[in-house]
Amino acid sequence: MLVVGASSGVGREVARQVARAGGHVVLAARRAQALADAVDAIRTEGGKADAEPFDVTDQARCQQGVASAVATLGGLDGLVYAAGISPLVMMQRASHSEWQQVLAVNVIGASHVTAAAVETLEHDGGRAVYVGSYSVRQSLPGIGLYATSKVALDGLIEAWRMEVPNVDFTRALLGNTSGTEFANGWGAEETGRVTKLWIERGLFPAATMMPVEAAGEAIASVLALRGYIDDIAIMPRQRDASASVDPKRR
Ligand SMILES: NC(=O)c1ccc[n+]([C@@H]2O[C@H](COP(=O)([O-])OP(=O)(O)OC[C@H]3O[C@@H](n4cnc5c(N)ncnc54)[C@H](OP(=O)(O)O)[C@@H]3O)[C@@H](O)[C@H]2O)c1
Repeated sequence: MLVVGASSGVGREVARQVARAGGHVVLAARRAQALADAVDAIRTEGGKADAEPFDVTDQARCQQGVASAVATLGGLDGLVYAAGISPLVMMQRASHSEWQQVLAVNVIGASHVTAAAVETLEHDGGRAVYVGSYSVRQSLPGIGLYATSKVALDGLIEAWRMEVPNVDFTRALLGNTSGTEFANGWGAEETGRVTKLWIERGLFPAATMMPVEAAGEAIASVLALRGYIDDIAIMPRQRDASASVDPKRR
């Protein structure tokens, strides 16, 4: 399996769970040291993992990175695209470069990686899974760029299905997940301004957050299946509210 966006959060957890289940996994993202740490952690648990650092906004690097992963793995049974960024910015203030960056990582990079992997996936009967977001159903002020990119990602998945019908393209729509670096880039000032808005409108705090292990387990389980799965929704439940406070109570 190749997991893109595996240096932290959901992608890193999917890679860990795939390796725990006996799969050989290549972890990709930009941060080489974070990838090396994740690979070490998997190997320490007895799993089989390798790192392949690349930036998904560079088409040539996507091609090289996927080719190198395929060579390392000797084929490709599954691709997970978990790379994603979420700038926190109100629509009225969003700059052209913020738009370009969010679309480059969340949508266009997903297509570059798919283009590089799809022939091998088709040959090997592999599945491609894309981490989508519940924000396509319910967005929030300040995450409009992100939510728009995830709607576009849904369109991208359907476009690939139409052109390569022999590969299973799956959208894993994900709800609020804790234990990731999703909001790490949000500045304190903008976070304060936007969360005030969310609270005023009764949108925050979110009812529940799901632990990243639950999200990783659900995505890894889809990878284990053959056959067509168009869409899965992975959502926090009430019991996750306590789990996010005390993981031992899961
Ligand atoms: N957390 C949630 O509540 C939530 C909810 C719904 C959906 N999701 C989705 O889940 C996915 C994973 O997010 P997360 O919450 O786990 O956040 P995260 O910890 O920030 O993970 C994002 C991953 O994307 C990688 N990435 C970002 N830009 C990249 C680039 N240019 N090239 C290659 N890799 C890049 C990051 O690695 P580098 O920085 O090392 O490149 C990192 O591995 C995203 O698609 C996100 O939209 C998250």
